[in-house]
Amino acid sequence: MSTAICPGSFDPVTMGHLDVIARCAKIFDNVIVCVSHNSTKSQPMFTVEEKLSMLNKVLKRFPNVQVDCSQGLLAEYSKKYDQPVLVKGLRAASDFEYEFQMNLINKRINPSLETMFLTASEEFTFLSSSVVREMAMYDADLHGLVPDEIIEDIRLKAKEWRAK
Ligand code: PNS
Repeated sequence: MSTAICPGSFDPVTMGHLDVIARCAKIFDNVIVCVSHNSTKSQPMFTVEEKLSMLNKVLKRFPNVQVDCSQGLLAEYSKKYDQPVLVKGLRAASDFEYEFQMNLINKRINPSLETMFLTASEEFTFLSSSVVREMAMYDADLHGLVPDEIIEDIRLKAKEWRAK
C-alpha cells in the first residue's frame, strides 16, 4: 500500500492545492492531507479546526484521501505510516530552494522519508493562499481560486477580519 502525505498550512486550501492532491490520489493508494504549522508565516487567518472542516468538505469526493493535522515536526508525524512519501507542489524555481532545504532537514530527522515534487499545473502557478486571503479581504470574486464549497466560509471569515 503506497501512502503519500501532502502537508501544508492550507490557510485556506486553494485550487492549486486541490490539483496537486487530486493528482496524488491517482498515483498513491492512500493520501493523507496534513494541516501543519508553518512557524515562518504570520498569524493564520483560519484555525486548524476551520482548515480541517474546509478540507473535509472539498476532499470528501476522494475515497482514498484523508485529512489530518500535526502540531509538531512533519518528519516525526510521518513515522506513523509505513514508507510514506511527502508530496509537495512546486510553482516556480523559487519554491524549489526552500523545499530542497526542507527535504534535507526532514531526511535528517527521518532518514527513510522520501520527498517527491509535483510541478503545479500552468493555470495555478500564480495562485497561493496569501493571494486568496488578500482577494477575500477586498471582498473580490474567489471563483476559480478556491473550490466553490468553501467560498462562503472564506467570505464570512474575511468579513470577521475586516471588522477587527
Ligand atoms: O503550505 P506551507 O506553509 O508551504 O507548508 C509548509 C509546512 C507547514 C509543510 C512546513 O512549514 C512544515 O513542515 N511544518 C511543520 C514543522 C516542520 O516539520 N518543519 C520542518 C523542519 S524545521
